[in-house]
Amino acid sequence: MKVHHIGYLVKDMKEAILEFEKLGFSRGEIIRDEFRGIDISFMDNDGYCVELISPYREDSTVSGLIKKYKNSPYHLCYESENLVQDIEYLAQNGYVQMGEPKEAPAINGRRVVFMMNGSIGLIELVEGV
Ligand code: NI
Repeated sequence: MKVHHIGYLVKDMKEAILEFEKLGFSRGEIIRDEFRGIDISFMDNDGYCVELISPYREDSTVSGLIKKYKNSPYHLCYESENLVQDIEYLAQNGYVQMGEPKEAPAINGRRVVFMMNGSIGLIELVEGV
């Protein structure tokens, strides 16, 4: 599976964007995901894509993670040609599915799912176009 992006937790979205710009990343728009309670912004550096994720409310899906990891990368996302098939394959190979696939407004409504592995931690799958 091709790598789609690296997910990066940040406490302050605007400050983080300024820092990634200094490192050669181009700015994208900031999208609010109201279901997950997070702001998301994708930035690109010559095809290398970083997804900045910042919680804007206490009960966001990453509020616990950001207390633990602070500003830090926390998942790699892989592009899946066949989400059902890949989930099944990974589930048979030591990955635990974290909830059902859900649409991600910041990735044009494509469905994403997170899976956890004992040796490499959290990964995300995004449905191919
Ligand atoms: Ni992601």
